[in-house]
Amino acid sequence: MDSGWAPPSWEGPGLYALPGQGGALPGQGDGGHDRLGQERRLPSRSGSFAGGTGAWLDRLGGLRNFVRQELVSRQLAEQLAGRSAQRVLDIGCGQGTQALRLARAGHYVTGIDSDPVALGVAQGALAEEAPEVRGRLQLLSGDGHQCGRWFGPRSFDVVLCHGVLMYLPDPDPMIASLARLLAPGGLLSLLVRNRDALALRPAAAGDWRAALHAFESDRYYNRLGLAARADRLADLSVTLSEVSVPVRHWYGVRVFTDNAPDDATPPVDGRQLAQLLEAEDRAARTDPYRQVAALLHVIGAK
Ligand SMILES: C[S@@+](CC[C@H](N)C(=O)[O-])C[C@H]1O[C@@H](n2cnc3c(N)ncnc32)[C@H](O)[C@@H]1O
Repeated sequence: MDSGWAPPSWEGPGLYALPGQGGALPGQGDGGHDRLGQERRLPSRSGSFAGGTGAWLDRLGGLRNFVRQELVSRQLAEQLAGRSAQRVLDIGCGQGTQALRLARAGHYVTGIDSDPVALGVAQGALAEEAPEVRGRLQLLSGDGHQCGRWFGPRSFDVVLCHGVLMYLPDPDPMIASLARLLAPGGLLSLLVRNRDALALRPAAAGDWRAALHAFESDRYYNRLGLAARADRLADLSVTLSEVSVPVRHWYGVRVFTDNAPDDATPPVDGRQLAQLLEAEDRAARTDPYRQVAALLHVIGAK
């Protein structure tokens, strides 16, 4: 039975799509080449998400996104245990996966995204929900940087900002403005690329130039082909303390499946799927595994 992706054994640098071998997006897994194998500069600045929406949406059903969303949902549920009907803001909600799950769980959610296509997907999914869920989730178009103009201080009990900070040149202004929106006792949930593990992905693809670059820089090309930026837990901890939302807990996200191919799908065998998620879940909360996860899920509490 086809049970989906399993981690391949190491076969050298040909294992994953490499420059000039087809299948790779510009910048995917290689910071230094285009499709023709010509040298390309490694990123010195992070960019924006614009241009990545199509590939992001295409891969939503893939194993990597599945693991990401499942892990984040479990971790949020753990952090929200005992809290009912929270006022939640999801900045950069995209297709609305977490916003919808939280609305289903009884929370009152506002999702904001600057991309009309992603927001359209979220709206389509919301239209399929029961009326009571539809009544608990509002989706708005806008730039998260402006949220301090739309909402008053202490307007929300929980603020999510997942997969957004890596596209900002400096995360601190966004974090500061989100912190102001939190009520006392509120939670800030950040999902960021882990700078302390930045060399692992290019190294697994045999791209040693990009792996070496990752030791020196927080800039990289992600698997959507976008220039992006990674954060260290230590730096985020300082920023969060400065805005009076110190780190309460942190998890890794995607320790074992980060290097799965983009078209890998979750195992169809339910037992295998449960074991895969259990292994990722255990690694997400266990040192030293979580320290080298591709993503960090950092929870601050006001
Ligand atoms: C990688 S997707 C993540 C979507 C969702 N948060 C998740 O984790 O599944 C990033 C999303 O953030 C949105 N985004 C990026 N910068 C933004 C900003 N300044 N304001 C609002 N949305 C933004 C993008 O349009 C995109 O939909």
